Amino acid sequence: DLFAPQRQNSAGLNLTDLQLLQQWQTDLAGLAGTTWQAAALVGGQTYSGDVLMVCSPFDRSSLVGHVACSPPQAIAHALQQADKAFADWRLCPVETRADYLLKAADLLEQQRLELAALCMREGGRTLSDALAEIREAVDLCRYYAAGAIELFSQAQSLPGPTGEENCLWQYGRGVFVCISPWNFPIAIFIGQIAAALAAGNTVIAKSALQTSLTGMACVRLLHQAGVPRDVLHFLPGDGATIGGQLLSDKRVAGVAFTGSSATARAINLQLAQRDAAIAALIAETGGQNVMLADSSAHVEQLVSDVLKSAFNSAGQRCSACRVLFLPEETADAIIERLIGAMQWLRLGSPLDLSTDVGPVIDRTALEKLNAHVDYLKNNAKRLYQLPLPAGLEKGHYFPPTLAEIAGLSQLEQEVFGPILHVVRYAGSDLSGVIEAINATGFGLTLGVHSRIKATMQSVRQQARVGNVYCNRNMIGAVVGVQPFGGMGQSGTGPKAGGPHYLLRFSVEQTVTSNL
Ligand code: ALA
Repeated sequence: DLFAPQRQNSAGLNLTDLQLLQQWQTDLAGLAGTTWQAAALVGGQTYSGDVLMVCSPFDRSSLVGHVACSPPQAIAHALQQADKAFADWRLCPVETRADYLLKAADLLEQQRLELAALCMREGGRTLSDALAEIREAVDLCRYYAAGAIELFSQAQSLPGPTGEENCLWQYGRGVFVCISPWNFPIAIFIGQIAAALAAGNTVIAKSALQTSLTGMACVRLLHQAGVPRDVLHFLPGDGATIGGQLLSDKRVAGVAFTGSSATARAINLQLAQRDAAIAALIAETGGQNVMLADSSAHVEQLVSDVLKSAFNSAGQRCSACRVLFLPEETADAIIERLIGAMQWLRLGSPLDLSTDVGPVIDRTALEKLNAHVDYLKNNAKRLYQLPLPAGLEKGHYFPPTLAEIAGLSQLEQEVFGPILHVVRYAGSDLSGVIEAINATGFGLTLGVHSRIKATMQSVRQQARVGNVYCNRNMIGAVVGVQPFGGMGQSGTGPKAGGPHYLLRFSVEQTVTSNL
């Protein structure tokens, strides 16, 4: 039962255990020379294509592997195979589908070292981030396996007035395309696929180009867990090229997408223009996430939670805090403390396990952040950047930054990286702040720090956001505990890792029988 109090997530690892950490350091060093390969994988067959070299975001001279981009015939083959396999897969007992996911969860735990090493080197993730997302993937597989059995193992019998028998059945929709981002190359990638498979869909998976090697490793793991090779296909490569061919095809019945709001709109448009069944789109997109403190906030707790929310994963989380709203009367003191605390953050290579903030994903990301800082230099009231330590020239490093700005209207788009904006507000105008947050049109995460219950309640009720966090940090939603996802420009719902997620991946059939 998904709501049962005894339901538990996986235990994870205790990284405060120094012996364990040392073992990880040794084991990761053992994989330092390993390289990985990715290519289109359709019906178990790989395809050759234009080959790209993959280098680490923290060291451009360090080769991680090669990706062969999917050629058009691989995309066509994936559509044909996934469509054909659906006829049997939709009738495959849900218990069998769930078993594959349970096996995948076990394999994820067994292959944790190699997966962590790969996603650290390819995605620039720190060890704790890599382990957390492997753990999240494990939990998502087990949660959706349990959810599928609960929702789909038998028809729901419905009462009727006439003596006829009425049953509600659920099936997969058909071919589901899963498009995932580079910032959670394991958890989001596997989470989307696991949900689509559990609900009875066949899947064509497209990971972000930047993390294709990790995507390939995950697909191989799912096949190893038993998922048939004609049911799950993998297409690495450029998003626009693959999406262009894939999403215009009439056989695509649904898309699970996590990425930017602009790409979600483009996908929606492309699906709508087909002369075909109306496809389901499940989109989880960006945010303009605010942490809002009132003058009763516990300062030490606030500073610690803001640091975590804004700078963990180098700010490359859709849930990350982008803007901190502080009341006039405490703003100066809190900004001073934040700047003081930022100086303790260690910026560096993820292979150094004491690193707090790793690199950003690539040169494009770095250039966008630098362009935003140029804007802030002319338009912010105050700008503080942590100095870049020496020796990081080979990587895409951007230092944690704090900028005081006048208001949300200065931020038209989500800034995806370790930049925290601070806005002062008149302490009596909490409602005005919430109105401004709602007016952005985004609605993903919101943090509130207050020791006044009425404040927390009114913020919660007025804010149109998907995840509200009170007196804590606002990242790292836990499967089944904090179902995750936004509203408005931040996504369509349903929430990943929540009890209703699988339903959007399925269609319903009502059968009325006069027996
Ligand atoms: N689910 C991720 C988090 O909550 C994005 O940080």
